[in-house]
Amino acid sequence: MSNESQEADQHNQSNKPPAGKHPAPPCTLVIFGAGGDLTKRLLMPALYNLSADGLLDDAMQIIGVNHGERETSDWRDELTQSLRTFAADKASTFHTSKLNEQAWSWVEQRLEYFPGEFEEDETFERLEQRLTKAKSSNIVFYLAVSARFFSPIVEHLGKAGLLEEKDGNFRRLVIEKPFGTDLKSAQELNRCILQFAQENQVYRIDHFLGKDTVQSILAVRFANAMFEPVWRREYIDSVQITASETIGVEGRGGFYEQTGAFRDMLPNHLFQLLGMIAMEPPNSFDAEAVRDKKAEVFDAMKPLSAKDVVLGQYEAGPAGPAYRDEKDVAKDSRTETYAAARVFIENWRWAGVPFYLRTGKRLAERRTEISVQLKAVPFRLFRDTPVDALTPNVFTLRIDPAHGTSFDFNVKVPGPIMQIGHVRSKFDYSDFFAERANVGYETLLYDCMLGDETLFQRADSIETAWAAVDKVLHPDTPLDVHGYPAGSAGPKEADELLAADGRAWRSLTDTPKKA
Ligand code: BG6
Repeated sequence: MSNESQEADQHNQSNKPPAGKHPAPPCTLVIFGAGGDLTKRLLMPALYNLSADGLLDDAMQIIGVNHGERETSDWRDELTQSLRTFAADKASTFHTSKLNEQAWSWVEQRLEYFPGEFEEDETFERLEQRLTKAKSSNIVFYLAVSARFFSPIVEHLGKAGLLEEKDGNFRRLVIEKPFGTDLKSAQELNRCILQFAQENQVYRIDHFLGKDTVQSILAVRFANAMFEPVWRREYIDSVQITASETIGVEGRGGFYEQTGAFRDMLPNHLFQLLGMIAMEPPNSFDAEAVRDKKAEVFDAMKPLSAKDVVLGQYEAGPAGPAYRDEKDVAKDSRTETYAAARVFIENWRWAGVPFYLRTGKRLAERRTEISVQLKAVPFRLFRDTPVDALTPNVFTLRIDPAHGTSFDFNVKVPGPIMQIGHVRSKFDYSDFFAERANVGYETLLYDCMLGDETLFQRADSIETAWAAVDKVLHPDTPLDVHGYPAGSAGPKEADELLAADGRAWRSLTDTPKKA
């Protein structure tokens, strides 16, 4: 274990807030979907980490609502068990060598199970009664439920008066993805929510924004002098945003059949990355300052058309069986498991610069990254060297699973002649900072309790993002879905999309060869 990770572990055992941080205000967290995967996998590990960091108030209570009678002790045991399993799993983002028992027991003691159907008045009448006795009247309602329950729960909370902020206490709503399935449904959902709550009470989650490497995009861009001067169409050739996964649909066939890769990832996660890369510098980290600048990007986005999009579906290949052979998937399914798109931002900074986005399941490698390719330099000086073209400079922000940046550039190969060699310089967070077993929801939960909406999506941005892709979601004729072998880099038609522009996707597996 490095000195830094020892420090991190010691720090993690201290249950004291890190320097400059203070505990969130007292709050009662009501989780709808207490029995769901999100609660187990993400919310409990995040609460544990916040508790280990001393960032939760002693008066905090956590009430888990779910259908079906069960004892609180039974729910606590289940969550303890799953927390231990994730901690022990080396592949989990929550993997840790040693659990801080005190931090978990702090959370565990505050857990209370509350049985109730999400669509019945009676649940909310009882909940209202229960909440009058809560230690804190600041309440966060977390909707960790399937999207079909969003509107009914909000409506019931609203009608039961549970969203009214009185006597200086806050009432907040956290809504998970997917926020609608197209522009119309997102507008309807926003309308329903805003009938019962003010915009500043609503925290729409995109978990990509909880990732440190995503939040760091603004730091890299704006805390360094070297990027901003070239961060514009005069110097940038194109941008590629990739979120490739090796996993398949992981038993979520039923959900995925309805959703597909495009809706699941493009107008939300990948657009958020695009927003961070393309936005103008805000004047502060104030929520509205940041969100206004991001909203301008979505607003300037040219609506996508069918010719900008390629869809694919994995067939049997080196990485496994076909999508159509997955559980709960139709044998003749036309749902895409891969989507690529070319996006243009029609403003002074970006006009004419293509942003190529791609995402897919069962691809050759897991890789979430953003590569910014600079324009070619004049070649004349190098005309007598053995190369007939220079490899372009590419700056890459590596989001997952590697955390860092890399820069591809050209140097002279040592020796008597002028020969150009292509090299890569890399920065890894783990070389400088202690890695934490964070799941990405720590900051989101903490910010929500503090009332900081910077990392959450505003109604207008969600709608503009859906508006940009609406034509593709409702095409006059259905888009083709091209096959690709499981374990490959995606369908060849996606390569053709870039080839038509004289470009190519970055390899999912490459590292530059040593000269
Ligand atoms: C979710 C999608 O929102 O994001 C999943 O529904 C996808 O299909 C996941 O696998 C990817 O997130 P991450 O953080 O694992 O890259």
